[in-house]
Amino acid sequence: MSTKQALLQPIEVGGMKLSNRVWMAPMTRSRANNEENAPFDIHVKYYEQRASSGLIITEGSQISKKAVGYVNTPGIHSKAQVEGWKKVTEAVHAKGGHIFIQLWHVGRISHPDFHNGELPHAPSAINPNSKSYTPEGFKETVTPKEMTLEDIKQTIQDFKNGAKNAMEAGFDGVEIHSSNGYLLHQFFNNSSNQRTDEYGGSIENRAKILFEVIDAIKEVMPENRIGVRLNPSLHGAFGMEADEETIPTFDYIVSRLNDYDLSYLHLSEPFTDVSEISYLESNIAKRYRPMFKGTLVINNNFDQESGNKVIEEGLADAVAFGKPFISNPDLPKRFEENVPLAEWDQDTFYTPGEKGYTDYPSLKESKVG
Ligand SMILES: Cc1cc2nc3c(=O)[nH]c(=O)nc-3n(C[C@H](O)[C@H](O)[C@H](O)COP(=O)(O)O)c2cc1C
Repeated sequence: MSTKQALLQPIEVGGMKLSNRVWMAPMTRSRANNEENAPFDIHVKYYEQRASSGLIITEGSQISKKAVGYVNTPGIHSKAQVEGWKKVTEAVHAKGGHIFIQLWHVGRISHPDFHNGELPHAPSAINPNSKSYTPEGFKETVTPKEMTLEDIKQTIQDFKNGAKNAMEAGFDGVEIHSSNGYLLHQFFNNSSNQRTDEYGGSIENRAKILFEVIDAIKEVMPENRIGVRLNPSLHGAFGMEADEETIPTFDYIVSRLNDYDLSYLHLSEPFTDVSEISYLESNIAKRYRPMFKGTLVINNNFDQESGNKVIEEGLADAVAFGKPFISNPDLPKRFEENVPLAEWDQDTFYTPGEKGYTDYPSLKESKVG
């Protein structure tokens, strides 16, 4: 029997043989500071440096102009963006890695500055009282426009188009960003969705758009290369407020996802302590592992020890690491050698250029240096 750590065991997902279970969580880095919001050389270098991750999930990438809410985030809706991403996927594949793109629509977490003065779109006209990172710095969000049925139809098409572009750009798959208080998540929760039509009211109606997005995307790419990300217990962050119906809504979503042959379900443990809130779930992997039949990826605040443990306990098949991958480009190697991790610098998470982005050395480079 292999004595390899659980995190370093290979895993087969969607017909891909992934070399380990140390996946890179999607992280916005705001480096696409060009007119087109297209990835370029530094993105190629950044992702190539992290190609030893079992699966890279890219930063959230807007599926349309309307989908944007943060400055300098890359898109996946224009020709220039597809060309930019092609170089990224080629570089990762040349190193033997695998890479999915995260398809993103921020909904109401945006600002009129991004939309020629027009309002951002959301399920209902409710201000999240959050912040949008505009070209002029952080600005307060506004009351968004309630999407019409036509807007919803168009958005589903935009997700499909993003997936089609992702295939053209050479991605191995896509992750649907239905998490962290952004557009699809805004449909799920009562506090952000007070619609009275077929997209509001009941749990089924509030969840409907996600399944329509998946159905549309699978018309242009294999179903087993589609991942879905959820953050069921998000509360008091990104404008999200949970209530008694929140967890039942996610229970419904997760059970229905079993009807699909997805690549994986990517779940986050709560971002804040929700142990005092009776109707929220503090142990996301524990609750949803028995409910979901496919590959389950867990995230939030894991390290080598807790990552190995969650897999050994059978609560997840892989772990998505975020911040550790920022400062440790060869994270699986560091786990293999049981060496301490390099610290990340929060001040350069979202700043343009190479600093804090591509200048974290690999273990080998730091030993030589
Ligand atoms: C700089 C930064 C950017 C992030 N951007 C995204 C994003 O684009 N999409 C997303 O789903 N989550 C995003 N997240 C959340 C991470 O995917 C992850 O859930 C979070 O960092 C917790 O994991 P960790 O403790 O391993 O860092 C971001 C987190 C950070 C630190």
